[in-house]
Parts: sequence; structure tokens; C-alpha cells
Amino acid sequence: MNKKLALIFGTRPEIIKMAPFIHEAKTRAFNFFIIHTGQHYSDIMDKVFWNNLNLPDPKYNLGVGSGTHAEQVGKMMIGVEKVLAEEKPDYICVYADLNSSIAGALAAAKLGIPIIQLEAGLRSFDRGMPEEVNRLVVDRLASYFFAPTPLQQTHLENEGIRENIFVVGNLIVDAVTENVKKALATSSIMGRLGLERENYFLATIHRAGAVDNHQNFQNLLNGLALIAKRYKLPVMYPIHPRARKNLERVTLAADADIRIIDPVDYFDFLTLVSNAKLILSDSGGIQEEAAILGVPLVTLRKNTERQETLTMGSNVIAGFDPETISQKTEEMISRERNWRHPYGEHVAQKMCNILEKVLST
Ligand code: UD1
Ligand code: UDP
Repeated sequence: MNKKLALIFGTRPEIIKMAPFIHEAKTRAFNFFIIHTGQHYSDIMDKVFWNNLNLPDPKYNLGVGSGTHAEQVGKMMIGVEKVLAEEKPDYICVYADLNSSIAGALAAAKLGIPIIQLEAGLRSFDRGMPEEVNRLVVDRLASYFFAPTPLQQTHLENEGIRENIFVVGNLIVDAVTENVKKALATSSIMGRLGLERENYFLATIHRAGAVDNHQNFQNLLNGLALIAKRYKLPVMYPIHPRARKNLERVTLAADADIRIIDPVDYFDFLTLVSNAKLILSDSGGIQEEAAILGVPLVTLRKNTERQETLTMGSNVIAGFDPETISQKTEEMISRERNWRHPYGEHVAQKMCNILEKVLST
């Protein structure tokens, strides 16, 4: 396939999920290059994943960094537009619903460059979330849609999109399967943190609606405290920089074992997920990883765009109320773990097979 592709992304989850696609594109000698927007830039949110996943350096790093949504998206669009105008790719690829995705998609659409959306059709039906706004716009602008499961195809069809939808699974499956064995064999995090299998909970809370709203953040931390006390186990919380910035506005219960640690690399994180008794999280990608690795998860939000994890039984919605979080945790701990995830296998290969066919006509 000799068409030229620009891959545009810039955050931790995109780096992780794009990695299998990049490896497959490299194996097939696709003509592609990477534009890193610089949305994530701290080593532990960025560089460590390029190293973990053995990724080629981006050809461009726009170094945009943090800001309000308009500042961040605006700067990214300006940078992406310059590169696209010079490089003239035939297509761009973006992933899902990040500010990097909407900026890449808008800049490309205005230059008439068709967009390939690698995670299309997810919907939380909650426009209060910046991610929902981003995915609605990116999916509107895209020409090719890789949908993880038939559910996302239905969402797209309900919005009038009929063509070029390919249900292939989610790249997170490749990311997990390619890395979990190595993670379990090489990561020393369990020993470093003094943990044993299923003798701790794992928590991540980072979403704007959870941590920038101090009452919500406080409620969620109170929920974690209830669980730590009830089960007499530590709650390990690798903290995202957005959440860390808000820590001074909340209080941690002195009598509960909540251990806040820096974010960790992918091998350490997969190890923590695999061995956890249960995960409490507002992350999107971690709902999928937990489902794939067979670990129960309680979602610390009022909704999810990963509804299939609720149907299969690996995930439950708890919202922000501490008592409800504690009840849902109890319910999930006793739930039988006989679920099968719907996210497919060999997803990058399937995507590249389709691109070879569709883009060479
Ligand atoms: C973004 C995504 C979110 C995703 C998350 C993954 C959007 C709208 N949001 O949220 O969907 O779940 O990434 O982690 O795209 N910061 C650092 N170092 C970094 C990056 C950020 O210190 O490398 C701090 C800055 O203070 C920044 C804050 O974190 O203001 C938030 O970063 P930002 O990129 O705006 O959004 P995320 O919360 O990371
Ligand atoms: N992750 C990681 N280290 C951490 C926390 C998360 O490697 O300390 C990985 C995790 O395995 C998953 C991805 O980061 O693949 C999820 O990113 P995040 O929760 O920030 O974003 P979301 O998926 O919610 O957009």
C-alpha cells in the first residue's frame, strides 16, 4: 500500500493503543509518519510508553502541552495544518476522542484529507464530557470507521453513517496480549510496593468531571476509604497529573490505607491490573483492559461509553456516592468471573488488511 498516512496523536492511551497498529504498519512497510501533538509531555505520561512499546520516534512533535480546550486544540490545529500542508498525506489516522484527535481531524478535514478513525462509534450520550463532544465531531468528519464491536456500528448507523464501517475489535487487545506476559515476567512493582496477588485494590481517577469538581473528587476518595477500611486492604492509586493538581483541595481519610503513587509505566500497570482484587476507575481504556484480563471493575462515573463491559458483567457503574461505591464493590467481588470479552483479536492485522484493500482501490 503506497498511500501516505499521517498518524496524529499525543496522549498516554493513544500511544498505548496505536502501538500495535504502528508495528503492523511498519511490518507491512506502509508509507506513514507520526505527528505527536505534545498533549502529554511529562516523561511518565509520554516517553516511557514510547520506550516500553519500542515505537519509532515521531517525525514531528508539536510540543503543544497543556491549556484550556480551545488553547490546546487551537495550537494543535495550527501545528498539524502546517505539517499536513507540507507533507500532503493521502489520509490521516486518529484515535477515538482526545483533544489531539479532534484537532487532527479538524485540520485534515479543512484541507480535504480523508480521516481514518481507529476507534469509532463509542457513545456515553453525555455531552457534559469533553470526550463525547470530541468523538461526535471526529466521527462526523471521518470517512473510514473502525468500530470495536457491533454496538458501535449501531451507534454510527443511528447517526446516519452507513458506509466504510468495519467491526474489527479494539487495538487494546493487541496492546494487552503483546505486553502482559513480558510485564508479568519482568515487572518488579509487586515487590517494590510490598503487594501480593489480590491483597490490594487498584484505583485510577483522573477525569475532569471527577477531579476538577472537588466535591466529586472528595466523594470518590471517601468511597476508596470505605473500601480500604471494610476489606482492611490498601488501595493503590497511581495518580494522573490532573488529579495530583487537585489533591490539595481534598482530604484523605487518616484511618484508611490509600496509597497515592506516581503514574507507572505500561509493564508495571498491566502487572498491577492483573493481580488486583478489583479495580475502581473512571478510565476508559482500563475498563477494556480489566475485561480482557478478567479482573472486576467498578466504574467511578455515572455512565460509560463501554456499555459492552456492563453487559458481559466485568464492570458496573457506581457514580460518585461513597456508599454506592462500596456496595458495588461488594457485589463485583462476589460475581463469578466467567465473562468473555467482545474486543476481538489480532486487531491491528485486521485493520491493516482492510486498509490495504480499501485504500489501494
Ligand atoms: C486527556 C483526555 C482524556 C484522557 C486523558 C488520558 C482530552 C479532552 N482529555 O485528559 O480523555 O482520558 O488525557 O490520560 O483530550 N499534565 C501534566 N503532564 C502531562 C500532561 C498533562 O502535568 O504530560 C497536567 C497538566 O496540568 C494539564 C492536566 O494534566 O493541565 C490535564 O492534561 P490534559 O491533556 O489537558 O487532559 P487530561 O486530563 O490528561
Ligand atoms: N496506564 C499506565 N500507567 C498508569 C495508569 C494508566 O500505563 O499509571 C495505562 C493503562 O494501562 C491504559 C491507559 O494508560 O492502557 C489508560 O489511560 P488513561 O486512563 O489515562 O486514559 P483513558 O483510557 O481514560 O482515556
